[in-house]
Amino acid sequence: MKALILKALKENINHYISGEQISNQIGVSRTAIWKHISELRHEGYHIESSSRKGYRLISAPEHLSAAEIQAELNTNCFGKNIIYYDTITSTNNAAKEAAAKGCDEGTVVIADRQTAGKGRLGRSWVSPPNSGIWMSVVLRPEILPVQAQFITILAAIAVGRAIEQIAGITIGIKWPNDIVINRKKVCGILTEISAEIEQINYIVLGIGVNVNLDKDDFPDDIKHSAASIKSETGSTVSRKKLVVRILENLESLYKNLYKKEFYDNAKADLINEYKKYSVTLGNRVKAIYQNKTIEGYAEDITENGELIIRSDNGEQHTILSGEVSVRGLYGYI
Ligand code: BTN
Repeated sequence: MKALILKALKENINHYISGEQISNQIGVSRTAIWKHISELRHEGYHIESSSRKGYRLISAPEHLSAAEIQAELNTNCFGKNIIYYDTITSTNNAAKEAAAKGCDEGTVVIADRQTAGKGRLGRSWVSPPNSGIWMSVVLRPEILPVQAQFITILAAIAVGRAIEQIAGITIGIKWPNDIVINRKKVCGILTEISAEIEQINYIVLGIGVNVNLDKDDFPDDIKHSAASIKSETGSTVSRKKLVVRILENLESLYKNLYKKEFYDNAKADLINEYKKYSVTLGNRVKAIYQNKTIEGYAEDITENGELIIRSDNGEQHTILSGEVSVRGLYGYI
């Protein structure tokens, strides 16, 4: 029934069609039409209504199917294989399954909605439909597991650059890989790795970008610290264009990094770019690290992407991963 109503609206896109006309065309009551129209609105369709003229479809939600993305994508490897789901528990879990079965490097798993989206440190990740980018990319770099942290740094830069290019807004990166706008988090990256001592089997790079979410989409406990690109810029952004640009940026940075002759320079350049984006460096921080809490100043970022903190008693700590709060961000004062 809903599909038929949608068909009638699409046949008249940008023109009004009265409830009576739809009702005669498909043989349902006007109350039923009203109910389905409100469901469609909930699914992301922008439908105007007027008591005199009826309903008018203004725009349909963007579909992030493989075909839609690949039609605009200019890459050699990333996104050549895209697995799309309307709804999935977690794209990272699906990508890990695909990787364990031997899928190609650059395979992308993307979903319109996640029912059990995962964040770092065992947290959950809010992933409602029609509003965000919930995707995971499978990588198979020929590096040692200890060097994998750098991929996270690289991914933050790729996504940060893409947001700036598509949304025209300045972003910051909170170490290691939260992307922030106006001091609030709009993107998180969850890197999961399967490795032997000396060899990586695969890395799953899970990227969550709050693109067009409204403030009410976030639960109360993170409303003060989370935001979307739309909530901060006031404009809706094309998820498809952003996915395409993220994959293009990721591929070009990743390829550069792993071409032997460029390795050293590319890495140093990336760390310098990362430092420019950093909203952690130079600020007071609190880190939970090796079961202790240390407070001090974020002094530097090493060539491998570790954070150096000078604690209040003068000691220097080099942190590879963990939870770091930055004064002035996410409600830490
Ligand atoms: C964080 O806590 O900052 C990381 C959030 C990562 C969320 C993304 S959404 C796509 C992918 N699938 C998941 O279950 N998590 C990641």
